[in-house]
Amino acid sequence: MPPTAEALVDLGAVRTNIEVLRDRARNADVMGVVKADGYGHGMVPVARAMVAAGAAWLGTALVEEALQLRRAGIRTPTLAWIIPPGTPLGEAVASDIDLGVSTRWGLDEIAAAARAAGRPARVHLKADTGLSRGGVTPGEWSDVVEAAARAEAAGLLRVTGVFSHFARADEPGHPSIAAQLTAFHDALALAEKAGLRPEVRHMANSAATLTLPDAHFDLVRPGIAGYGLTPIPDLAGTGLRPACMDQFVVDIGDDEARAGEPAVLFGAGDGGEPTAQDWAEALDTISYEIVCRVGQRVPRRYVGGDGEWPDPR
Ligand SMILES: Cc1ncc(COP(=O)(O)O)c(C=O)c1O
Repeated sequence: MPPTAEALVDLGAVRTNIEVLRDRARNADVMGVVKADGYGHGMVPVARAMVAAGAAWLGTALVEEALQLRRAGIRTPTLAWIIPPGTPLGEAVASDIDLGVSTRWGLDEIAAAARAAGRPARVHLKADTGLSRGGVTPGEWSDVVEAAARAEAAGLLRVTGVFSHFARADEPGHPSIAAQLTAFHDALALAEKAGLRPEVRHMANSAATLTLPDAHFDLVRPGIAGYGLTPIPDLAGTGLRPACMDQFVVDIGDDEARAGEPAVLFGAGDGGEPTAQDWAEALDTISYEIVCRVGQRVPRRYVGGDGEWPDPR
């Protein structure tokens, strides 16, 4: 029986989008963000397509997501940035997963895991420069960078990165953008003063990758743009291409339809079908929510990869 619904994921579009983003990033590397099951597209096939297109890093929210990538054989440097207290970290340290640090206790837990594993952990210190969604606050930054430098000297960890995240980069010109950039430069200066020499400094999400070269630093972290959706609906000429597409009733007016005819809910838009952005505007939300909400029981079919990919789940 053919499935009654399927989500067709165009991995060729994902590859094209990463190439577009690499071009925009110029000298900075690209981290493909594949959290939330690859924004609903299926994490592992999307991650493979991103790496094939030159993404030098992958980014996940959870450590478990990063471990799934490793278990799938993906060895690309991978950062996981949400680490709740008590998260088991031994396998992550052993698998060379880079771990985000937003608190002093987070740093201490990683150092303890590294001591137990008998090898240094790779960490990225996250500075809260104004978003207030994770990140070390300015008041605690000096303490954390100094503690990180001591742990590095003790061989417990290596600070491979320092990063931050924008609150409103999708509103070009918003005053918070310049204020956050200044705060990030201040945080970097304090880290350097403490003796830290991170390999990668990174701050740019999709919106900043597309519109804010000053925020590119060594690495950019696009999420939604990798899936071909723009975080800034009015931004023209990005060259991005949407990679996506149970029972309900649609009023088609006087048009005619036969049983079994396919109905495309959303796609790239070139065949006249609505896009995820059209749905987002109709529902007064953002395209992120449209693609991430295609339920798990809708099988994904991958095209545009190295041959046709079955749904790995
Ligand atoms: C730390 C971090 N970096 C990058 C991203 C990617 O953001 P976007 O999808 O807007 O490009 C996210 C997503 O929220 C994030 O939390």
